[in-house]
Amino acid sequence: MYRSHTNGELRLENVNQEVTLSGWVQKVRDKGFMIWVDLRDRYGITQLIFDEERSSKMLMQQAKMLGREFVIQIKGNVIERTSKNPNISTGEIEILVSELTVLNESKVPPFTIEDETDGGDELRMKYRYLDIRRNPVRENLIFRSKVTMEVRNYLSNEGFIDVETPYLIKSTPEGARDFVVPSRMNEGQFYALPQSPQTFKQLLMVGGMDKYFQIVKCFRDEDLRADRQPEFTQIDCEMAFVEQEDILNAFEGLTRHLLKEIKGVEIGDFPRMTYDEAMKIYGNDKPDIRFDMKFRHLTPKSGTYGFSVFDDAELVVGINVKGCATYTRKQIDKLVDWVKRPQIGATGLIWIKFNADGTLSSSVNKFFDADALKYFAEQMKAAPGDLMLVMAGNTDKTRTQLSALRMEMAETLGLRKPDEFAPLWVVDFPLLEWDEETGRYHAMHHPFTSPKPEDISLLDSDPGKVRANAYDMVLNGNEIGGGSIRIFDKKMQSRMFDLLGFTKEEAQNQFGFLMNAFEYGAPPHGGIAFGLDRLVAIMGGQETIRDFIAFPKNNSGRDVMIDAPSNIDKMQLEELNLKLDL
Ligand code: AMO
Repeated sequence: MYRSHTNGELRLENVNQEVTLSGWVQKVRDKGFMIWVDLRDRYGITQLIFDEERSSKMLMQQAKMLGREFVIQIKGNVIERTSKNPNISTGEIEILVSELTVLNESKVPPFTIEDETDGGDELRMKYRYLDIRRNPVRENLIFRSKVTMEVRNYLSNEGFIDVETPYLIKSTPEGARDFVVPSRMNEGQFYALPQSPQTFKQLLMVGGMDKYFQIVKCFRDEDLRADRQPEFTQIDCEMAFVEQEDILNAFEGLTRHLLKEIKGVEIGDFPRMTYDEAMKIYGNDKPDIRFDMKFRHLTPKSGTYGFSVFDDAELVVGINVKGCATYTRKQIDKLVDWVKRPQIGATGLIWIKFNADGTLSSSVNKFFDADALKYFAEQMKAAPGDLMLVMAGNTDKTRTQLSALRMEMAETLGLRKPDEFAPLWVVDFPLLEWDEETGRYHAMHHPFTSPKPEDISLLDSDPGKVRANAYDMVLNGNEIGGGSIRIFDKKMQSRMFDLLGFTKEEAQNQFGFLMNAFEYGAPPHGGIAFGLDRLVAIMGGQETIRDFIAFPKNNSGRDVMIDAPSNIDKMQLEELNLKLDL
């Protein structure tokens, strides 16, 4: 028996018991005549004590040989501590060791296994198994497990059935590139790893498996960011005989349940906003509504502004930053530099201060008199003490840039509180988006999304204006889920592929299986997928999903621990009929 108790378990009531513990040496404090060792496992830390008076010479010597991260087993007696540590659950006791066995030695770890470690990102990724020993990482993984369990329980209680779908498939377009896998048995042919189980879940609906769910890996070859990994996990769901309202209700229920059970936060009906509103008010289709700072559109008092930057712009829009009129010149210059960075790409930033004494000052005093500035201040609902930040230019770019500035200001002012949760549905997404590069339309969600019935007449005349029965769930400024009501009619699906520029043959080759299935009694259906990694990270008060994945990839898509991707040997290449001319 390696242990009678874990290292987080023993309390005062265990005093005088003989116990056996196992774990890792977190820390050794050697005072010569007395040695304390912190013994760690997943459950906590227990203090061990060896002392000259009560321990044998040999035991003292053995204890002196211990190093950090040695794996040991001890037997000993639980005693009450003289100086107690209220910060840990076992802080009232310690173990007077009578027997020590080293189960395995350890090299000195390349970084400290402490909450605040000295190891950089790459080093910790390389030794991820050591990083996982640290409290913050371990707690994140346990937190993830708790959320996942709760999701399973909830969906299962709601009658959803967990069905596994294959990983070796053919391209499912979700807007990224596919990871492909060569087939040895089918020379020159490749599987694609699923970007999502989209087509399979729809086929399950055709198969009559109403209410499907799966917690499933998805693979997307796309540029990585804090909220994106090349392989990530979805809570993927689909229901038959449903309208958008049914799906929104079902998954609002799930999200509400998770926030209540896991975070103890009770939230009423989730607000809803159309895509158009979100873009207009926040410049963004995933607004963080934990704080206000809404976009305010500026119009001239009469006729023109008399300021070419505004007069020539498609959009003149600003945010009102409450209480920041006291910003110094230096602070404002920093903001101007921030928006001019290539990542943001703005040409400039105009500021107007509504000073505490009621006067107005601005970076455009030359062009606007006090009256004009006052008019702007009214439009921006500004009060004495506020700082107005204004941008002008092309609608799309200006929205994106001001939206980034809004988030930056909120971050600086501490308005993005990690323990506050503000979910939001964004609905009525456009069905299509125009892609300048390829000169054609792309599906904004995916090609299986149905247009709103009332917009179908626009499909030929003005496809860009057609809205979809598509929705996203946004939580604290992050898209955590997205879905749609699907097309379930072969004719409409094939019209959709036409619009997206597929030839009849291409559509048949790639998606014939789905369109054929639609000819055998496909029910109306729809669904959604949540990004589990994102959901867990945000509920955990963070935005970097890597910290909630046991073995994540780095920013170049590499697993630096196992060193993948890597070359494969010539034999394997030949077996796969692959020729690499490197
Ligand atoms: P979508 O592409 O919107 O929809 O994906 C659903 C959710 O998955 C998460 N997500 C990611 N998380 C981490 N890393 C990534 N690279 C990544 N990409 C997406 C996001 C996103 O909201 N089949 C449809 C769903 C449906 O229509 O039912 C789909 O995959 O949180």
